[in-house]
Amino acid sequence: MPNKFYITTPIYYVNDKPHIGHAYTTIAADVLARYCRGQRMEVFFLAGTDEHGVKIAQAAQKQGKSPKEFCDEQSEKFKEAWQALHISYDYFIRTTDEKHERIAKLFLQKLYDKGFIYKGIYKGLYCVGCEAYKTESDLVDGLCPDHKKAPILLEEENYFFKLSAFNDKLKTLIESDELSVEPVSRKNEMLGLLKEGLQDLAISRKNVPWGIPLPFDAGQTAYVWIEALMNYVTAIDIFENEKRFSQWWPADVHLMAKDIVKFHALIWPAMLLAIGEKPPKQVFGHGFFTVDGQKMSKTVGNVIDPVELNAKYGADAVRYLLLSECGFGEDGDISFQRFALRYQSELAGGIGNLVSRVFALSEKQRSFKLDFSSPDGFDAATHKLWEHYDGRMKSLKFHEILRGVQDYATFCDRYIENAKPWGLDKTDPARLKQVLSNLLEAIGHIANALSPFMPEASEIILQSLPRAEGEGWGRYKGEEKKKKIAPLFPRIEG
Ligand code: MSP
Repeated sequence: MPNKFYITTPIYYVNDKPHIGHAYTTIAADVLARYCRGQRMEVFFLAGTDEHGVKIAQAAQKQGKSPKEFCDEQSEKFKEAWQALHISYDYFIRTTDEKHERIAKLFLQKLYDKGFIYKGIYKGLYCVGCEAYKTESDLVDGLCPDHKKAPILLEEENYFFKLSAFNDKLKTLIESDELSVEPVSRKNEMLGLLKEGLQDLAISRKNVPWGIPLPFDAGQTAYVWIEALMNYVTAIDIFENEKRFSQWWPADVHLMAKDIVKFHALIWPAMLLAIGEKPPKQVFGHGFFTVDGQKMSKTVGNVIDPVELNAKYGADAVRYLLLSECGFGEDGDISFQRFALRYQSELAGGIGNLVSRVFALSEKQRSFKLDFSSPDGFDAATHKLWEHYDGRMKSLKFHEILRGVQDYATFCDRYIENAKPWGLDKTDPARLKQVLSNLLEAIGHIANALSPFMPEASEIILQSLPRAEGEGWGRYKGEEKKKKIAPLFPRIEG
């Protein structure tokens, strides 16, 4: 099925509740999924939670709960957050799902049967916060730079995956973009790691009971990352339902932040190659957010809860504000204050105000036949709005699209100021019809362009407009329907 689109987000660790960083990736994936559905593609959008490992077992213990009980509660919080933010995932996977555990074991067995797993002694450092093995060079003053904790020294008999065997193949795939790693800075970073040479990877742990036991040695559990990565294919029934699997695989894009690109662009494709499957088509690692210039952390107390933000601004606004804050591949900074300012200027005062003005003006008129005989520059402005839309969407340049919509809205505002429609009903009613027709169609274009980003507001606008036919300027035929709409983005105090 060439017209399919399989998109994934990382499966988030459940020791934390959802925060704005998780929401950022998930909203971006949702925008792409909605856009592709609008293009009549068959979409499979996968989200989920990562529930095994030491970190999660410890978090459960702290709360006096069994790991399963804790995971059930935490996973539900992610689902609730995604529902509040209108995330249209098609499937939500949990690594404690019986199906995931069953198929992950088949995957592990296959890797073993193909000779890519061997037993050895792991001696080295491990950061529980990252659930990752560390080298001295990863540390700053002996501490993990992300968790500010000293890693533990591990020395145990483990199973290893022959990652090094895939070094050259991965290099060819990434260089040729057959496995596209985006943006280019991340691609170069991966090529740099391949140049240094990949080491084999310990893929099991002793004495970590909260995990998936290895099918060939029940005394060890699978390293949490190894089975977590498998979620992308256990969700689509690899080994168990060939038709469903081949319908979706390879994934079109795995979306994440730059922190975990290495796992997705190197380890994961190697695991797939080892069992004779194709790597994903693209791994996209967007930037990292700080809050008011600082890394988000519980200790600093600056963790932004997307559910709270949602309660204040509404899902559409949160989606818009996050994706328009900075370029998707770049690092960015979020501040409550800037959110509030931008909400007022770009949504309540900007697009929201424009839409209310246009509907209020047209509401004063009796039904009239739309008249597009005087495009007054809207044909060119609309062409500009759409000219790079698809290309930007495909290259995940969300903020450029949103900037383009704001520019178009500004064009509309200026048009209103110049055309002064409020006096025209007395002096030149024919001209008023032209002006209103142009403005009504223009807000239709705004709604169409925004619909993957702001599904609710766009739907409200589109429901109140005539049905569009065709593309480009002059899509509306027929009569203007009169409908009143409530303000889309009410002004918010405080
Ligand atoms: N469980 C692993 C992923 C396994 S995927 C097979 C994991 N989980 S996580 O909960 O730590 O999520 C990391 C991801 O959360 C990042 O890659 C990114 O998508 C998102 N973000 C978390 N904090 C973020 C920021 N401060 N800024 C932007 N995105 C962030 O890693």
